[in-house]
This record gives sequence, structure tokens and C-alpha cells, in this order.
Amino acid sequence: NILLFFIINMKSTVIACSNIAFVKYWGKLDKSKNIAMNSSISMTLDENLSTKTTVEFSKEFKEDILILNNEKYSDNKLLRVSNFLDIIRQKAKVDLFAKVISINSFPTGTGIASSASGFSALAAASTKALGLTLTNEELADYARLGSGSASRSIFGGFVLWDSEHCHQIKDEKHWDKLRDIIVIVSSVEKKISSRAGMKKTVDTSTKYKQRLTKVGKTIEVVQNAIIKKDFETLAINIMKDSDNMHECMFDTEPSLVYLNDTSNKIKEVVNKLNKNKIIAAYSFDAGPNAHIITRQENVELITRELLKIFGVQVVVSKPGQGIKYSDDHLF
Ligand code: DP6
Repeated sequence: NILLFFIINMKSTVIACSNIAFVKYWGKLDKSKNIAMNSSISMTLDENLSTKTTVEFSKEFKEDILILNNEKYSDNKLLRVSNFLDIIRQKAKVDLFAKVISINSFPTGTGIASSASGFSALAAASTKALGLTLTNEELADYARLGSGSASRSIFGGFVLWDSEHCHQIKDEKHWDKLRDIIVIVSSVEKKISSRAGMKKTVDTSTKYKQRLTKVGKTIEVVQNAIIKKDFETLAINIMKDSDNMHECMFDTEPSLVYLNDTSNKIKEVVNKLNKNKIIAAYSFDAGPNAHIITRQENVELITRELLKIFGVQVVVSKPGQGIKYSDDHLF
């Protein structure tokens, strides 16, 4: 019985990697469709920063179940996942609950963004489990509904999110000597989520209005720097855009401060290393952890300097692939 076979196999597993935005997404034009105020560009990272997710739909389940890093959730996290699964269920015309088990390759509680890898893995695994065949572009549109930055993680390498749809600029082999040294700042402070924070910025910051008039040019410059592998131009613009986003955060009412003293020390170290020649770029998301973009040949030197800062840990990542399907299910 083919139908029965289909029903008992509504399970799929996907590995998706995180990404670091070189030009940041901060603010929504349309909250319900998760359309961004501006385009963003990112580099997908490798499996050092990934999420593996198994999704199964079954009539055995009486409600959606979410287990993240061996912990069962029944709070807002589950609600966000269930709301997302509702969209996929509606699309597939299926009315079954799901069990979702997910593990991150990076330590939890470090504040490393997991919504990007998390929702891209969930989008790919849930649609596959329900037998939907989608292009990566269509998949990115679904992932976006879970989390904006997740749409970029569907693709490998260098990705443009044009505020609505995602496109790969170049794959992971194009600039395989590029590295991201992720500096985990151990004293993680409680922070306002990106979602809540960006809404406040859009509503209250005047600097943000200026940002929106300039970011289109930055997108063009960064895209060309990636295509030409022009490290210096890339590095200057990565730092400028990260600083600009954090200035807008600070200009928000009430002020949003995501960086701490250690983050600022990291910036100082990078500025010192760049004194004679630009060899590294810092980039910060909505938290104190730093991403240091550099070329492979400088990883050792930079890591040595960064580790002199008290209490930090580093993880080195390179351009990674887009989503990968696996037969090695988590349950
Ligand atoms: C600072 O994608 O987490 O990391 O769409 O509300 O889920 P939602 O927000 P999210 O925001 C990421 C913001 C950022 C910049 C970036 O990754 O572009």
C-alpha cells in the first residue's frame, strides 16, 4: 500500500549551517511576511556552526513536540515552531502534529545565533517530510517566515537576500581561503531578542532612517568585493555596516546595547592588527560575541592576539554549504 508507506515515512533530517551577515538585516517592512527593510549579504558558515534537525509528522502525536539540545520545550520556542509548522501543514494540506528534535554543533548558552541554522533546517526537513518538492529559492521563502536570517542559510557560500527573496552570489568554493573567527565572550548578558529590538529601532531611531538611504550602496560595494575577492574593501565595509547597525541600536529608545567591555576590547585588538594593513574585520550581531573575518594565512596571528583577552573562546569557521539532507535521523 503506497499511501501507507508514505504515511509512516513522514520523517526527514536536515543539517543547516549558521551564517554571518556582512551587510546586516535589522528591521522589517512587513512583519507577517518577514520582508526586510533592506537587502542583506551573508556568508554561510561550515558545520562547526550547524544545526541538525529531524522532523516527523504522525497521527501518533497528540501535539507538537520540540526537543532542542536534549531539552523539551513547551514555551514560546515551541509556539514559534508550531506556528511555523502550521504554514507548512497548510501548504501540504496535512493535519498532523510533529515531533522535532534538534541539536546544535556549538555549545548552548553562548549566545551564538541559532535561529538562522535552526529555522533553515526546520523549513527543509518539514517540507521534505511532507513530500513537498521545492526549489532552494522557494525553500528560502519558507525559512524566512520562521526567521529572516534563516532564509540566507538555505544556500551555501555568499548569499544576497534582496529583502524578499534569496539568491546565491557565489558558492563556498569561490573564496575558500576566507575565515570567520568566532569569538565567544563567556559572560553572556541577557539581551532583547533581535525581533523585539529591530522593531524598536524602526519605530524610534532617526539614525536608522539615514542607514536605509545608504545601505543599497553598501550592498553593491560588498557584492562586488566578494566577486572580485577584494579583501580590503570587504573588510572596511563589514566593519562600517556592523558599526552603523550598532549606532542605530544605540539611537533606539530605550537605547539597545548589545556589546560589552570584552566586545570593545576585541574591536581594539582588530584595530591594532589593522594598523599598517587591513587584515581583519569585526562584525557583531545582536549580542556580545564577535565574528572576525580574515584570510586563512592570518588566522594564527589573529587568534593568538584574541586569546590574550580574558575569558574568551574561539571557533574558526570557513565558507560552508547550504542545507544537506541526511538519512541519519536523530530518532
Ligand atoms: C543582527 O533573523 O534573528 O543577526 O527575522 O525576527 O527572526 P527575525 O530576526 P533574525 O535577525 C537577525 C539580525 C542580525 C543581522 C543579520 O543576521 O542580518
